[in-house]
Amino acid sequence: MIKELLLLLYFIILVYAFANTKCGGKRYKCGDENQDKVCVNVSEYRGKVHELSPCADDKTCLWQDAAYQKPIYCTDKPAKDKILPGEACSGDSDCLSNSCIGGICLGLKLNQQCTGHQYCDVGYYCDTYCKEQVQFEQSCSNDYQCTNNCVCNLGKCAYYYSLENNIKADNPKSCYYGYINPTNGTCQNGPHSLTKSKPCETDTDCILLDSNEKLYGYSECQCGFNAGGFSYCSLAEGDPEYLKILELFQWLLQVNQYCHTILRYGPCSSLYLDEYIDYQKAVKFYELQSQIMFNDECIQQIYTDDYWGINSNRLFILLIILLLLQ
Ligand SMILES: *[C@@H]1O[C@H](CO)[C@@H](O)[C@H](O)[C@H]1NC(C)=O
Ligand SMILES: *[C@@H]1O[C@H](CO)[C@@H](O)[C@H](O)[C@H]1NC(C)=O
Repeated sequence: MIKELLLLLYFIILVYAFANTKCGGKRYKCGDENQDKVCVNVSEYRGKVHELSPCADDKTCLWQDAAYQKPIYCTDKPAKDKILPGEACSGDSDCLSNSCIGGICLGLKLNQQCTGHQYCDVGYYCDTYCKEQVQFEQSCSNDYQCTNNCVCNLGKCAYYYSLENNIKADNPKSCYYGYINPTNGTCQNGPHSLTKSKPCETDTDCILLDSNEKLYGYSECQCGFNAGGFSYCSLAEGDPEYLKILELFQWLLQVNQYCHTILRYGPCSSLYLDEYIDYQKAVKFYELQSQIMFNDECIQQIYTDDYWGINSNRLFILLIILLLLQ
């Protein structure tokens, strides 16, 4: 009992020490499973205490709308997206094009009229008509027009993560370190965090240093989803978590030339599933790092499923389906 009280006292002190005003002191706690299928109940009138209970596997929780006296009920998951051209299917109705031939969804061919990239076959993009993806150094206006090994930089297709520091760029994915310095618009090493994984109160607690270890600026003190109501600093492009994404993307690049232009980052049947999962995990870890710190299980399932759910059963089931279809 004494131990619990001390622990509580410790948390109260920490909460006051690290109260990020922006986050409104919200706290999250796992509730018991309930009969009413309520997944989020804001049980205190200032909206601070969120009682959670995860939904069944086939349901989802639209937690963004939760408010005091407005509990959120578990609802059916949205219908699965239709399958894009070039990907495996088992019947016509699986495909966006409504046409599954030889176990593969068909797409529109060269010069056929289209209303979006997703309708064109593998190797094409849509600009009123399906056109062949643009090669290195040829002109473009967005990434999906370029071949899957290129992005659109300064109006021309450039290889991913290829440009040395001090070269002008407007697409960070064209730079070797994935970062453009905003003051002079050139590729540079990104700034890195001075400290990580420590609670913050305001953005000024989130110090970023340049590659000479000089003060560069601040990242954002982001609200977390945890029992203590702590906030954490967002990561920056010079941090190893970001550079990891660039490294893992190299593996996708080896084989993604056979993917649809909008599936170049996966999921795509010609990519290895493990490599796709590792890449997605790294991307989500970088984006959601402050939110996924110290998540209870119910928080993982409700708020941060985007990260925690990545290598769950659903991808495993997808793998089995893909294997059966071979
Ligand atoms: C939400 O929490 C409040 C306070 O604990 C409780 O009175 C109410 O019945 C709960 N609502 C639902 C729908 O579970
Ligand atoms: C651009 O700015 C960075 C950071 O201030 C500096 O290191 C670099 O030398 C500059 N490059 C050019 C080409 O001006």
